[in-house]
Amino acid sequence: MIRKCLFPAAGYGTRFLPATKAMPKEMLPIVNKPLIQYGVEEALDAGITDMAIVTGRNKRAIEDHFDISYEIEAQIQGTDKEQYLQGIRRLMDNCTFSYTRQIEMKGLGHAILTGRRLIGDEPFAVVLADDLCINLDNDGVLKQMVQLYKQFRCSIVAIQEVPPEEISKYGVISGEMIRDDIYRVNSMVEKPSPEDAPSNLAIIGRYILTPDIFELIEETEPGKGGEIQITDALMKQAQRGCVLAYKFKGTRYDCGSGEGFMAATQFCYDNLYLKGLSF
Ligand code: UTP
Repeated sequence: MIRKCLFPAAGYGTRFLPATKAMPKEMLPIVNKPLIQYGVEEALDAGITDMAIVTGRNKRAIEDHFDISYEIEAQIQGTDKEQYLQGIRRLMDNCTFSYTRQIEMKGLGHAILTGRRLIGDEPFAVVLADDLCINLDNDGVLKQMVQLYKQFRCSIVAIQEVPPEEISKYGVISGEMIRDDIYRVNSMVEKPSPEDAPSNLAIIGRYILTPDIFELIEETEPGKGGEIQITDALMKQAQRGCVLAYKFKGTRYDCGSGEGFMAATQFCYDNLYLKGLSF
């Protein structure tokens, strides 16, 4: 039912300069696998097969990653190194990849609007690949959200509790609790100060959006930081209908920050790479 996943991947990644000067942030490896590959795997495991990627200048490596490298294929054919490509081959065999470019980086809301042609008029998932979400022994975060969508049929944002000193990095929701892990959103603020934050429930980089969001983004003026904010459009959607916030099961690493990147690397090294599970 949710067939498409949008990956806004046009941002500059300034927090990771100089690594991101000529390389997309989404290609930063967590041990041996780039962030965006983890995101595509999570989407495929949720039953989503059409990947729609919003890129920008200096992002061509993403397209090359999800394509055949004939030289490498020829080099390793018939050797035991072929196992290293098993994971990426599975994605290429089971998914389609479409790309569009965001010409001016006017914010996450604008990046999502840029993907409109690739998505069309259907509900879709959004993954911000620098948020790495892991739930090893159970369903991935997107799969949990797709299941929830089947029940509620409205936009859903993934949330987690964050400490007060971190709240100003996030979009923050408040709402009415309708299950111990689900809120019906009635307010949403982008990057509030700890004093102004309506709660400690922060939106992370996983969304399910219904397609009416595109018109709402079109009507949205630039907000915090002069950028077109998805939270502002979602707030309108919440006022007109329903937006849910879901406290997902699993761990999320903010790999756009040094601390999160290191924690994710250590976790993936110990739990995936050393066990031969990270190809
Ligand atoms: P971030 O806020 O993390 O920005 O964007 P950024 O540019 O990637 O990183 P920093 O803060 O400068 O280090 C959240 C997501 O939205 C995408 C980014 O690629 C990232 O996945 N994005 C943001 C766009 O695609 N276009 C934009 O104009 C802004």
